[in-house]
Amino acid sequence: MYTQSYLLGVGYYVPERILSNSDLEQLVETSDEWITTRTGIKERRIAGTGQSCSDLALNAAGKALQNAGMGADQLTHILVATFTPDYCEPTTACLVQSKLGASRAMMAMDLAAGCSGYTYGLDTARGIVAVRPDSAVLVVGSEVCTSKVNFQDRNTCVLFGDGAGAAIVSGQGSSQARIVDSLLRADGSLGDLLPVGIEGNSARPYTLGQQVGEEYFIQMKGRELFRHAVRGMAELTLDILGKNGLSIADIDLFIPHQANMRIIEALAKKLACPLEKVYINVDRYGNTSAASVGIALGEAVELGQVKTGAKVLLVSFGAGLTWGATLLQF
Ligand code: UT7
Repeated sequence: MYTQSYLLGVGYYVPERILSNSDLEQLVETSDEWITTRTGIKERRIAGTGQSCSDLALNAAGKALQNAGMGADQLTHILVATFTPDYCEPTTACLVQSKLGASRAMMAMDLAAGCSGYTYGLDTARGIVAVRPDSAVLVVGSEVCTSKVNFQDRNTCVLFGDGAGAAIVSGQGSSQARIVDSLLRADGSLGDLLPVGIEGNSARPYTLGQQVGEEYFIQMKGRELFRHAVRGMAELTLDILGKNGLSIADIDLFIPHQANMRIIEALAKKLACPLEKVYINVDRYGNTSAASVGIALGEAVELGQVKTGAKVLLVSFGAGLTWGATLLQF
């Protein structure tokens, strides 16, 4: 028998500190005009000193628990999607478990799927709930992207920001909100379009005292990635809509990955989706990778933009390459 996956609560957190385009003008040869016209980004949030991925995740998880009316001791599983964990080990999910006091959670693990981490996490939660319907799975996409940004590289440093988005998924509950369907994709042959940590990991480990090189940070073949992002997200959106007998007109709120306003516009155009139905916060937060669609969903719910009965479609795209779509009904 098919088990429903209910969305018991969502939440998000962004750090207080703002890095504006004019701040970046002081760091690299760029301009507010270039960043705004090429990306739509005006500012991004950056984690404060000592604020790590697990701290951001903790804040978002706390809000999701509060919105679900649950205590941390009710969680059974914790998944943290990130490419900027506090450490290699212990995992950020274990740190979140400890910080939350979720002592009854029987499983905690990190998940690495680039910017698709939140949709990958929701799909993994669906799988857990299918096997154990009484689970309460915390899914968090949390990133301190700026910890992997080379602030001397104007091609990338203007694009990223920090934040976290969280959701609690269960097979049981009184919530109306549920995950209707989800689809994931991966194409590892295109991994070189957005590598992070080519240096400093097992393929090219650092030795003690070695200087950190630029290949430790995010690198991007932006133009190529742009094309794949638009095509990949458009195809997957049509796939999940078709699979569920829907068209874009049936979707009340469309939440694409927030990487670049021009990608969002091109995607909306390809899908003939009016921009009024597209949730946009890339101007305020930049690209927060695995947190991106989670923050947007949390914010849209908080702002009352998701009414009971609304169909919401998340679609993400990122390093790997990976992409994913989640259809929600509130
Ligand atoms: O999260 C995963 C998904 N992310 C994406 O899919 C990102 C996809 N890519 C993009 O968003 C865009 O390709 C970028 C925003 C990264 C770049 O925009 P673009 O319109 O594709 O610019 P470009 O790479 O074609 O570069 C145009 C010019 C170059 O100068 P030349 O070679 O034409 O003289 C760059 O050096 O703009 C220059 N440039 C900058 N100038 C001022 C690159 N970055 C900057 C900058 N300020 N920050």
